[in-house]
Amino acid sequence: MTEGALDYARDHGPRFVEDLKELLRIPSISTLPEHAGDMVRAAGWLRDRFESLGIASRLIEGSGPPLVYGEWLEAPGAPTVLVYGHYDIQPVDPIDLWSTPPFEPTERAGNLYARGASDDKGQTFTFLCAAESLLKAKGSLPINVRFLLEGQEECGGKVVKEYVQAHGDNLQADFVQVADSGMYAPGIPTIETGLRGVVYTEVRAWGPAHDLHSGLYGGVAPNPLIGLAQVLADIKDRDGHVSIPGFYADVVMPPDSVLTSWRALPFDDAAFLRDEIGASQLVGETEFTPLERIWARPTLDVHGITGGFTGSGAKTVIPAEASAKISMRIVPNQRAERIFELFRGRVLELAPPGIQLDVALVHGDDPVLVPDDSVYVQTAREALHDVFGRPAVMGRSGGSIPIVGVFKEVLKLDTVLMGWGLPDDNLHAPNEKISLENFHRGIEATVRFWEKLGQAG
Ligand code: BES
Ligand code: MN
Ligand code: MN
Repeated sequence: MTEGALDYARDHGPRFVEDLKELLRIPSISTLPEHAGDMVRAAGWLRDRFESLGIASRLIEGSGPPLVYGEWLEAPGAPTVLVYGHYDIQPVDPIDLWSTPPFEPTERAGNLYARGASDDKGQTFTFLCAAESLLKAKGSLPINVRFLLEGQEECGGKVVKEYVQAHGDNLQADFVQVADSGMYAPGIPTIETGLRGVVYTEVRAWGPAHDLHSGLYGGVAPNPLIGLAQVLADIKDRDGHVSIPGFYADVVMPPDSVLTSWRALPFDDAAFLRDEIGASQLVGETEFTPLERIWARPTLDVHGITGGFTGSGAKTVIPAEASAKISMRIVPNQRAERIFELFRGRVLELAPPGIQLDVALVHGDDPVLVPDDSVYVQTAREALHDVFGRPAVMGRSGGSIPIVGVFKEVLKLDTVLMGWGLPDDNLHAPNEKISLENFHRGIEATVRFWEKLGQAG
């Protein structure tokens, strides 16, 4: 029964890739205001695509890039899936390090290179290709599908959060499906059972009222760059422990059975260090394994520091101000709001003499866990087994997809997190790519997953 749609997907695979390239040519970088028009273009492209498949679609306007909504609800009695994806992408800098331009999608050695190829246009597009294959081969979908695609995932997701809070009634479904994550390794299908949350902050530091000559005032004037560096140096120790009192209080580690299953996964510290990190050694809480540190432990990172003189040559200045972007990844049962308050308190407490600090929250998103024994996860595992010929790995991810926690909190829905990325896809970095084999298998797996759910009902 499934074969018709799978045959269609295989026959049209090359054209799907060509169509994806059209979407990838649109530079929909949500965080840069100059791309506002490209956000609208990408959203319109997706809406037109839904319409051409016979899926009723509209743009939902909010305080940022529009949401693209599509629905096909003609399978009475069958389950309803809420499909989520994002069409916004990260900036492309440093542009010089791209082998081919980020908005000229290029195939090389079985991969398609472009910004958004994996995160998340390529993965989101697998849903449209699965729907097309089923609709064209069968004339209908085996289950009901609502699609909700946002254009702001990479920078806070305000529009979609506001919409889900205010209009959750329009999104009634039995579960959510997201393809915005990855596989544990090539050929190993993966279902994620948890995502970390993130608390993203900006700390600003002031010292003198204006820039000062460092010869005339050095030794007496407080330096905000040094002050900020001292705060940063004190907030995380050399063993990777965050020094915020109470930071770890609500952390609940997974049960032993889960930790045991993680330890059984193939993981080569040296290869991981060499192939993915490229530094001289791993750091962090050595009392936990690297997977535990990434999947189940909170941490803190600094993303950027600005202030003072950074041009070529030399300028002897004590700058008036400095700032840093700092985020914390948080895990169950930490809560973003609480962690921000603790962070803020600690930073202010660490303020060196003569330095004033201001701590702002950029966005805060709670962690989320997904039960691994729901009928949806079990059916997804069967579909993955069929397509990849081996059982799926169940693990978590250290990354964050903020809306998944909101779906749980507001709509009371669990999510099937089943993605097609690979560890070397270069997410957020130069030379982002998607494996074309994974792209096609992703389409196939969703076709099979939906077919199985339709048959079960
Ligand atoms: N798709 C990623 C997150 C991801 C990647 C989850 C791989 C699981 C596996 C998403 O687009 C992302 O980058 N999220 C941001 C969220 C943040 C901006 C709120 C992140 O994790 O930094
Ligand atoms: Mn993503
Ligand atoms: Mn991303």
